[in-house]
Amino acid sequence: MANTDTQTRPAVLILLGPPGAGKGTQARMLQQDFGLVQLSTGDLLRAAVKAGTEAGQRAKAVMEAGGLVSDDIVLAILRDRMAEPDTARGVILDGFPRTPGQAEALDALLAEQGASVSAAISLEVEDAAMVERVAGRYTCARCGEGYHDRFKTPAVAGVCDACGSTEFTRRADDNAETVKARLEAYHAQTAPLIDHYDGLGVLKRVDAMGDITTIAADLKAIVREVSAQ
Ligand code: AP5
Repeated sequence: MANTDTQTRPAVLILLGPPGAGKGTQARMLQQDFGLVQLSTGDLLRAAVKAGTEAGQRAKAVMEAGGLVSDDIVLAILRDRMAEPDTARGVILDGFPRTPGQAEALDALLAEQGASVSAAISLEVEDAAMVERVAGRYTCARCGEGYHDRFKTPAVAGVCDACGSTEFTRRADDNAETVKARLEAYHAQTAPLIDHYDGLGVLKRVDAMGDITTIAADLKAIVREVSAQ
């Protein structure tokens, strides 16, 4: 994410929130609307698991149990992705950082590049609703577009709106037991980051219990606001 021109500093947005808060759903919409690059450490880790890389092999069991993968693995994957040229357009970090160590490493990485966090957006939701959101989730196997059995169905049943594929997948960690462990990990290790970004003056809170389009409008307003600064 090399950047030498402070007048055109790329946006660095963080989406914070527990499993099912809508980070992936909203990041994909912001990517389309603003040309930013969605960078999901969950997706990067799942790709590493699928490819059978050493990092993927180390991460697999932790992810299946709903715990957090170690900072060294996540940071190595994130640094590699941030070095790719497309990130110069600006990034939406979806599911990263997730620990104080990751947040500090991100601040240092951005500082090296003359950049900083533009906004850390906390998607505020109730835990009780998250199990239903996660358990009903499925994804287009070809393009990754996300759907939900009840809250976001394709216009034509069984056909992806975005690419026309008829193949869909469900994640191995989207079951009630693992979601509970993921929620616990969020509250213990990730929620404290809200105070970290509040202290840096970049925290934005969004009520994420409403419908997807209302939340998207709130996020768009924030991105416009921070892009104009
Ligand atoms: P990750 O892939 O990041 O999963 P997560 O944080 O648990 O979040 P989810 O993807 O479950 O939820 P989301 O907020 O993106 O919701 P979505 O938009 O899909 O991480 C998976 C694992 O990888 C972790 O457990 C960990 O092991 C590891 N990992 C990843 N990053 C790591 C890191 N930085 N450090 C260490 N370990 C890491 O929405 C969910 C569903 O609800 C969808 O079906 C959607 O259609 C629907 N929906 C969305 N918004 C709404 C709404 N407003 N109303 C109704 N339905 C909605």
